[in-house]
Amino acid sequence: MQRTDAKDNVESSIESKNIAFFSTQPYDKAPFLQQVAVAGLDNEWDIQFHSYSLTPSTAHLCKNTEAVVVFVNDQVDAECIAILHKHGVKHIALRCAGFNNVDVKAALSKGISVSRVPAYSPQSVAEHTLALILTLNRKTHKAYNRVREGNFSLNGLMGFTLHGKTIGIIGTGSIGKAVISILTGFGCNILCYDIIEDKTIVNAGAHYVSLDTLLTESHIISLHCPLNERTFHIIDSNAINRMPDDVMIINTSRGALVDSKAIIKGLKSKKIGFLGLDVYEQESELFFSDHSGDVIQDDDFQRLTTFPNVVITGHQGFFTEEALREIASTTVSNIQHYRSTKTGQNNNIVLPDS
Ligand code: NAI
Repeated sequence: MQRTDAKDNVESSIESKNIAFFSTQPYDKAPFLQQVAVAGLDNEWDIQFHSYSLTPSTAHLCKNTEAVVVFVNDQVDAECIAILHKHGVKHIALRCAGFNNVDVKAALSKGISVSRVPAYSPQSVAEHTLALILTLNRKTHKAYNRVREGNFSLNGLMGFTLHGKTIGIIGTGSIGKAVISILTGFGCNILCYDIIEDKTIVNAGAHYVSLDTLLTESHIISLHCPLNERTFHIIDSNAINRMPDDVMIINTSRGALVDSKAIIKGLKSKKIGFLGLDVYEQESELFFSDHSGDVIQDDDFQRLTTFPNVVITGHQGFFTEEALREIASTTVSNIQHYRSTKTGQNNNIVLPDS
């Protein structure tokens, strides 16, 4: 497969080995540098770690940079890509699975290839999904505080038995499958909806149904599909109206799968009995940094935190030692693969003209 470089106005050469790592958190550096060392590249790659995000405003800092390493809330849109291209950037390495924040088409049209980490410990996100379900159901977050204050009353802590309940899984890829496997162990009935059906799931006892059937028959609905034009606001007021009363909704996938205003309405009317979020529509303004001393301006987010039956975590589903190691290792190997062969044999990479 041939890689075609866009020719106009490019400032640096392909031989540059500068790599710019954006949205760096303290916990990102060590596993990445460790994998660079394992690959024997520590003397070869010049890596700059930036704590700020990659956006059209910060893309100007990518002079003499060959590859950028980005995460879920970096804003790699067409404007940003045009600037990266001007500075000679040849590769965008996503250190995550979802790529809704990168305009892949714009990148490829400029001769910039894109890679991602399609699956890294799907169990880590699946287990966090279960943490949200169990916390909401058995109210362990409230019990923890009560017991510390010497309050051993059980009033208000009643949960329900998961065994025998019907759980609806939207998206049966690697994370959806891992969630199904755990919930099958709990003795739940599994309904699934996906645009592509997977026989192994049916053999394990789950049932593919229409989205409408899943919405109307599930006690718990958990989202595990990517964010795209078809799935944007897949949970809106119409979908919520079809759900049974007291439904539990869990979103560990991408915030904009859920219409926040419709969810708030559903919580106020008590149609939604439980809500667990690891992702939020406008999370890029908030997540991954400390805003404890700020006045948070997002009124929808603030309203969501006031409900007693809502648990929100700040996009930490992926956050296990094992997952960080896998993310770093795959990202290093994606960049290495891109640099060494520049062909499309690595399935994690999309190249221009592929
Ligand atoms: P995957 O690509 O293995 O599975 C996604 C599934 O969704 C596929 O089976 C696909 O056919 C299905 N799908 C696509 N369009 C659909 C539609 N319109 N309706 C129903 N199903 C549809 O992805 P994986 O690894 O399971 O990840 C799922 C999502 O989880 C990612 O897209 C990402 O947004 C999110 N994620 C969240 C993390 C976190 O830390 N909270 C970490 C990693 C991923």
